[in-house]
Amino acid sequence: MEASQNIVKWQAPSNIALIKYWGKKADQLPLNPSLSFTLKKSHTITSVEIVGSSKLESDRTDFYFENNPTLNDSFGLKFDKFIKKHFNFPKLKILSYNSFPHSTGIASSASSFAALSLCLVDLQKNRDIATLLHDASNFARLGSGSASRSLFGPLVAWGKNERIVNSSDTHAIKVPEGLIHETFNGFKDAILVVDSNAKKLSSTSGHAAFNQHPFKEARVKQANSNFNLILDALKKGDTKLFFQVVEDEALTLHSLIMTSDHNPILLNPNSLVLIQKIQDLRNKTGLSFGYTLDAGPNIHLLYAKADEFKLFELIENELKPFCENGTVIYDEVGMGPLKLL
Ligand code: DP6
Repeated sequence: MEASQNIVKWQAPSNIALIKYWGKKADQLPLNPSLSFTLKKSHTITSVEIVGSSKLESDRTDFYFENNPTLNDSFGLKFDKFIKKHFNFPKLKILSYNSFPHSTGIASSASSFAALSLCLVDLQKNRDIATLLHDASNFARLGSGSASRSLFGPLVAWGKNERIVNSSDTHAIKVPEGLIHETFNGFKDAILVVDSNAKKLSSTSGHAAFNQHPFKEARVKQANSNFNLILDALKKGDTKLFFQVVEDEALTLHSLIMTSDHNPILLNPNSLVLIQKIQDLRNKTGLSFGYTLDAGPNIHLLYAKADEFKLFELIENELKPFCENGTVIYDEVGMGPLKLL
């Protein structure tokens, strides 16, 4: 190994999927292409330092999350396993911090595995920035599929699609700006937190259960068709079509989860109240906005920068009362990772 320095530090963002990745094949390859907005304020900062002089199999990575040692928790063990499987370093010391509170519907595994992969790839050997991001996306995918998309911004595709040149199942790529109408520049994402308790379903077991789902084949077909529809909407600046597809994806995801093994229902009563309110407010105001959800109860409300002030009023007056302790996290689309050291 040729290490150019002993410590590196990266900031990597979370992302919110517009076309959902749901279901995977061997080697963490997706069943369908997915598409996401990269977030700006919701990120993880990770530093990785080489502290050992030679590689010992018995060495556990010293991993601190928000200043707490993670020696025995599942998070620490998952990261240690990932590092040992894919890299060949002597003992490492890792410090990691999130800019957002735990379990708020923001994908922390995406930003964590993206930041960690960037650090590990950066420590390996000198690469040009394009190769570094490409390789980090590949490793991040092996840690958590959606993390592969946190390496770029503002709009990112993971999975093969004939309209996105060089798209691939093994790593994500930035969607060329020429394919995105200016309406989508600086798009906003207000995260309406209805429940901050830990997720009821790990994505990994959700993906596994989906493999037995009777609608699996139809879903893969639908995801490919929605992917092409949203590309049309993005190119034309058609926000109506855009939100139709985004909401269809969110509800499909939850329908598939509800009808999988063990039938978990991840929505809360207030998730449904908020969805209904969003639809009513949209009809009443004629404004263009819409929602999506990950595999949890919290709502991501998406809207254009041009409507920011009107939406702020609607959120504060009409939607915030249904959020847990009035928690709303105002985020927006971002450009991707940042090297800090
Ligand atoms: C619903 O990437 O968390 O958020 O690959 O098993 O780590 P693993 O799953 P993960 O799944 C994310 C699922 C999703 C949709 C998405 O982000 O595309």
